[in-house]
Amino acid sequence: MRVAASTLALIALLHGASAGTLPRGAACSVGNSRLQVGTYQYWDECNSVSFCSIADAGICVAKRCRRDEFPFGYTPGMTFPDKCPQGQFCPDEGSDCQPVLLVGSPCQLNRDDQCEPAPNAAELADTSGRGLNVNGSVCLNNVCMWANETLGSDCVVENTPYIAYGIEGEFINIVSRGNCRVGSYCDGPTRKCLTNKEVGDVCDADKECDSMNCLTEGVCGDPAASPREFGTWVYVLVAIGIIAAMSGTVTGLYITHRKQRDEDREKRLQYWREQNAFHQNLLHMREAARASILSLNQNGDSPRSTIYYGRDTPAEEPLSHSSSAHKSSGLRNHVGDDGSDFEDSVSQRKNNNRF
Ligand SMILES: *[C@@H]1O[C@H](CO)[C@@H](O)[C@H](O)[C@H]1NC(C)=O
Ligand SMILES: *[C@@H]1O[C@H](CO)[C@@H](O)[C@H](O)[C@H]1NC(C)=O
Repeated sequence: MRVAASTLALIALLHGASAGTLPRGAACSVGNSRLQVGTYQYWDECNSVSFCSIADAGICVAKRCRRDEFPFGYTPGMTFPDKCPQGQFCPDEGSDCQPVLLVGSPCQLNRDDQCEPAPNAAELADTSGRGLNVNGSVCLNNVCMWANETLGSDCVVENTPYIAYGIEGEFINIVSRGNCRVGSYCDGPTRKCLTNKEVGDVCDADKECDSMNCLTEGVCGDPAASPREFGTWVYVLVAIGIIAAMSGTVTGLYITHRKQRDEDREKRLQYWREQNAFHQNLLHMREAARASILSLNQNGDSPRSTIYYGRDTPAEEPLSHSSSAHKSSGLRNHVGDDGSDFEDSVSQRKNNNRF
C-alpha cells in the first residue's frame, strides 16, 4: 500500500488548502463545522487563519494556537500563534491550548497526542515512527485510551475509510488502528490482540504486518519507507559507465583534434608550396630579364650559356637551393621531410626553364 500512503499524504496536503472563506469578524455557523469527506480534515466556514468560535457566538476569530511548524494560510508579515507547551495540545480548530485529556475522555480523530500518557508510557510508546500511538496513548473512536492490551486480550479497533487516488483512480484505503501493545495488532473479526506478522507472511491489512506494509499480493512486504539498497554490481556498472563515458569523450576529442591538426598541416604545406613556387617564378623572371638585358648589351656575341653561367653565381641568388633557402623560413624546415618530392619537381622545373 505504498502508493496509497503517499497519495494520502498528497491529498492531505492538497486539502490543506480547504478551509472556509469567511474573514475574521464574520458571522459563521458552528453547525457547519465538520470533517471533510475522504480526508477527515477539520473544516469550518472561516478561512485558514481563523476558526468559527462557539464561545464568541459564531464569529470567525483568529486562531490562538498551531500544531504545524509552518502553519498553512499565513502570509509573510502575519504573526501566527504559538505551539502549545508540553502537557497541552492544540485542537484541530486551533482555538486554545488545552491540558491533555484523561483516559476515557472524548478526543479528535487521530489525535493521540490529545490523550494523557500512561504511567508506563515509555514501555507502551511506539518509537518506530509507524504512528501506532503517541507516548503510548491512542484516540480510538473518539475516546482516549492507552495502547496497553497484551497478546490474546480483548481490544478496541477503529477503521477509517480514507479516499485515496491511484493510477487506476479513486479507491478506499481503510486505516485500522487498535489499542494493542506495540508488536501486536487488534484483529478485526475476533477483536483480540494478535502477534504482528513478519515480512513474507500472508496478510489482509497493513496493520497485521510488522512493516505496516501489506502488499497487493497479500504478503507482508518491507516497510514502505525503507531505503532501496543496490547491489555492488550496480555501483561497479555505474563506475564503468562513467569511466567509459569519460574516456570516450577524451578519445573522441583526441581524434577530432588530430584530424583538424592534419588538415591544418596540409594547408600550411600547400601554402608553403605556393609561396615557394611564386618565389622561384620571380627568380626565373629576374634571371630571364637579366639574361635578356645582357644579351642585348653583348648583342649576341657569345653563346648564351657562357654568359649565363659566368654572371649568375650562386652567391648572387638570395634564395637559391642550398644555404639561403634553409634560413628563409621555419616552415620549410618543418615540412622539410614532406617536401622532398616537391623540391625535386621544383628543381626539375627550374632546369626545364633553364634549358
Ligand atoms: C512523550 O513523553 C515525553 C516524556 O514525558 C515527552 O518529552 C515527549 O514530548 C512526549 N511526546 C509527545 C509527542 O507528546
Ligand atoms: C490499560 O489501559 C486502559 C485505558 O485504555 C486502562 O483503563 C487500564 O487500566 C490499563 N491497564 C493496565 C494493565 O495498565
